[in-house]
Amino acid sequence: MASTARRYERFAGVEAHGSSDVYEQWSRGISTDAAVLELIDGLPENKRQPNLVLAAARSCGADAGPYSQFRSFLQEHWEDIRPVILHRSTQTNEPRRCAVLLPLLAEIARTEERPLALIEVGASAGLCLYPDRYGYRYDDGGLLNDPGRPDLVLECATTGNPPLPRSCPEIIHRAGVDLSPLNPADPEDLAWLDALIWPGMEDRRALLQAAAGAAAMSPARIIKGDLNAEIAELIEAAPAEAAVVVFHTAVLAYLPAADREIFRDTMLSNLDIPGRPVHWISNEGGSVIPGLAAPAGDADPGLFVLHHNGTAVARTGPHGQSLHWL
Ligand SMILES: C[S@@+](CC[C@H](N)C(=O)[O-])C[C@H]1O[C@@H](n2cnc3c(N)ncnc32)[C@H](O)[C@@H]1O
Repeated sequence: MASTARRYERFAGVEAHGSSDVYEQWSRGISTDAAVLELIDGLPENKRQPNLVLAAARSCGADAGPYSQFRSFLQEHWEDIRPVILHRSTQTNEPRRCAVLLPLLAEIARTEERPLALIEVGASAGLCLYPDRYGYRYDDGGLLNDPGRPDLVLECATTGNPPLPRSCPEIIHRAGVDLSPLNPADPEDLAWLDALIWPGMEDRRALLQAAAGAAAMSPARIIKGDLNAEIAELIEAAPAEAAVVVFHTAVLAYLPAADREIFRDTMLSNLDIPGRPVHWISNEGGSVIPGLAAPAGDADPGLFVLHHNGTAVARTGPHGQSLHWL
């Protein structure tokens, strides 16, 4: 129970703080509430994450009120909430993360002088596989890649002068893998993705609906499976004329450390296939991938680190809201 309490305390102070007052309050409340901690500790270890438990409660009707009201709801409705937790998993799909990937994608297409084949591991509903369908506004600058509608424009604050492109690279292939791919056209999957968005982040909610609508028109192929088992075949299936970019954001933390190492080694070895450039972009929490150093210096511990082929190039806001080039 002590470790669950610490996990909720950390989520309140490091992740929710500054982003969702409601989640900060609920998570902090849980961290010192023995009765609620006991309910959560009755779940399998990999089902106790704050994101999952809080989203399941909200999908069962918990209102964004004070903690006292939330804890009563949790206790009264636990028999409905528990099956949702067991059936679902944390699959938050945040299209705005494309804003922190785009400069690297454009740079890869430019240096390789080829169009791109995107392969996303841990793709959820695949909403990060369409960077060319979004518009971008970095800082207060101009609009890049006008999507023709304001609800598909991704805003991202920058520091450190990232190499912002003038246009989107050409993408000729998109594919993904996920343990449990979600269908952007399925109302139940969409409702779950919506429940995963933290209270108070209404802009993310509107973006989710717009991006899912755009993806549903021609969804990318996302196979069901484990990323380590499927990655070689996905790379093999990419068109030979493209530069392959394997990427993931907010995924590897869900894998056991040994599986993260296997994936890291696969990616570092695949980079050398002659005649077929394969690039690896990782956008994950700072210490998630063993052996990949986070950049030196103090930084907000809630920021992710963006690595290109194993080298750190930026820190990023975890929902794609900021890009801090190194
Ligand atoms: C938090 S979501 C992130 C989704 C997406 N990458 C994004 O940034 O919006 C993590 C996703 O990774 C998937 N996942 C976790 N472990 C996986 C594994 N071993 N193989 C494939 N997918 C996995 C989950 O099912 C989930 O959809």
